Amino acid sequence: MAAVLSALLFGCSCAHHPQVPPGPNITTDYDGRWLAARATWYGKPTGAGPDDNGGACGLKNVNLPPYNGMTTCGNLPLFKDGKGCGSCYEIKCTKPECSNSSVVVFITDMNYDLLSPYHFDLSGKAFGAMSKPGMEDKLRHRGIIDLQFRRVRCTYPPGQKIAFHVQEGSNPFYLAVLVKFVADDGDIFQMDLMEKETQEWMPMKHSWGAIWRIIYLKRPLKGPFSIRLTSESGKQLVATDVIPKNWKPMTVYKSNIQF
Ligand SMILES: *[C@@H]1O[C@H](CO)[C@@H](O)[C@H](O)[C@H]1NC(C)=O
Ligand SMILES: *[C@@H]1O[C@H](CO)[C@@H](O)[C@H](O)[C@H]1NC(C)=O
Repeated sequence: MAAVLSALLFGCSCAHHPQVPPGPNITTDYDGRWLAARATWYGKPTGAGPDDNGGACGLKNVNLPPYNGMTTCGNLPLFKDGKGCGSCYEIKCTKPECSNSSVVVFITDMNYDLLSPYHFDLSGKAFGAMSKPGMEDKLRHRGIIDLQFRRVRCTYPPGQKIAFHVQEGSNPFYLAVLVKFVADDGDIFQMDLMEKETQEWMPMKHSWGAIWRIIYLKRPLKGPFSIRLTSESGKQLVATDVIPKNWKPMTVYKSNIQF
């Protein structure tokens, strides 16, 4: 997770960084307009950000495919209390070290900058990826730069389906599920669960990061479960019986669906 200090550290009186509150949430209108943001980086210079390759979305191994370390923290209007987890942004910069081409990053973590409209605290790898060849270190050395960004639809390698990670501590009365590898909008705004037996959709509540949960005390929940996903722009998909009858916590269940 990015430094709690960032809001203080970046609350400088630099003339070109006026202190203004966070901007409006970035939505799924994909209007193609570039907006300005502050960019920093954290972790190892060529790393994926957090030392444990995780982050405030609850994802793991963000250094590995399909994220490949092209990851970032977002401040409030990007991270959206976790509902922005998995969304994608095209970014580019204009310093002499910056290449003309843009790169795409995934929101996998959060930062607390309340003094700039938009702030990407990038992985060292993603920050360096904006540079001309051979200028990665020189660009990273700047530490803090302005960048241009816009929301884009997330794409994953062909064949990459949405996966569900049943979280530690889940049991028949409390089920917490992390959703990952969501293409298109990338983020999930509602998740519902259905037992095969009852065929009734039950709303899950957003827990934190990319994790949704259901607490059900009337009787033990019984698998297999289907999960219905609603993306930020309202598209829906159902992963039928994706979590089997004999499900276990700390297990990843791959679906055969993708937006
Ligand atoms: C931004 O998104 C978060 C998370 O969905 C929400 O709680 C908040 O109300 C939104 N803010 C605005 C200004 O819409
Ligand atoms: C980058 O873009 C500018 C303006 O479009 C152009 O003049 C310059 O040649 C480009 N540089 C490279 C390396 O493509």
